[in-house]
Amino acid sequence: MIDRALSVEDALRQASSVLAAGGIEQPRHEARILLGHVTGLSREALLVQHREILERPLVDALTSLARRRAEHEPIAYLTGEREFWGLSFEVTRDTLIPRPDSETLVEAALEFTRARRDAGLRILDLGVGSGCLLISLLRELPLAEGFGVDRSVAALRVAGRNAERHGVSARMQLFAGCWGAALSPSFDIIVANPPYVADGERASMMPEVAKYEPAEALFAGREGEDAYRAMAPQLARLLSPQGRIFLELGAGQGARAAEILHGAGLSECERRKDLAGIERCGIFELALD
Ligand SMILES: C[S@@+](CC[C@H](N)C(=O)[O-])C[C@H]1O[C@@H](n2cnc3c(N)ncnc32)[C@H](O)[C@@H]1O
Repeated sequence: MIDRALSVEDALRQASSVLAAGGIEQPRHEARILLGHVTGLSREALLVQHREILERPLVDALTSLARRRAEHEPIAYLTGEREFWGLSFEVTRDTLIPRPDSETLVEAALEFTRARRDAGLRILDLGVGSGCLLISLLRELPLAEGFGVDRSVAALRVAGRNAERHGVSARMQLFAGCWGAALSPSFDIIVANPPYVADGERASMMPEVAKYEPAEALFAGREGEDAYRAMAPQLARLLSPQGRIFLELGAGQGARAAEILHGAGLSECERRKDLAGIERCGIFELALD
């Protein structure tokens, strides 16, 4: 029985064994995260209080989360949080879980703004999701204004709450729509992390991703290029003459994405790698006629 009152140590041990049985790689570590979430206590506090008795409702809550995690539900959906760019973002099943790889876009965009940091830049995020890219940029650029678009109204609600949480909501507007179709020019920075996984890859993806994250945030047709193709014709119209686009790339998609955007009046300035050495961010500007 694991649903009676237990000591912190015993609760951790029991939750760890539920996770291990589900094939979770670091069961003890994850059990600690879940227990911290359930009790609101830090890792240090849990270590100090390892002999304290946990009331039954807390043990039940921990057990229920451990069972969900054992089914490979991502831990970020269980705790409702994920860190990105040193900030904690609310995430729900309606939003993609922010990936560290996407920080490559934030870094590249900030580098571009370095010379113009005091200007009131207009930043557009196409497919804003949880808001992690746009909000991170707005936090770094206190005079900038942000515009986020998503097709998912539920994701936009999460982005709105994250903007409040990080004190940027007065400078950030959110729109429901299909990429930038309904927007008027112009933007100094356009960031986009669109879906780019080929439909056929679903079967080989980790269950954490394929079973739980929103399909509309992941999949983009037979070649994984549908979203690049759909947004490309809008980008040149929306970008200011001196502006830059920072587009997230799926592994090995750089050349194809560049080809698609070239066809829409943009030229590639650079391709940036992420920390794993994978080309992750295509940087584009308006092509000279
Ligand atoms: C890969 S997620 C990126 C979310 C967030 N920017 C991030 O980096 O974590 C792609 C987002 O694009 C949105 N999306 C998909 N198709 C769209 C469309 N046609 N128009 C606007 N947004 C779309 C999805 O709902 C999802 O939130």
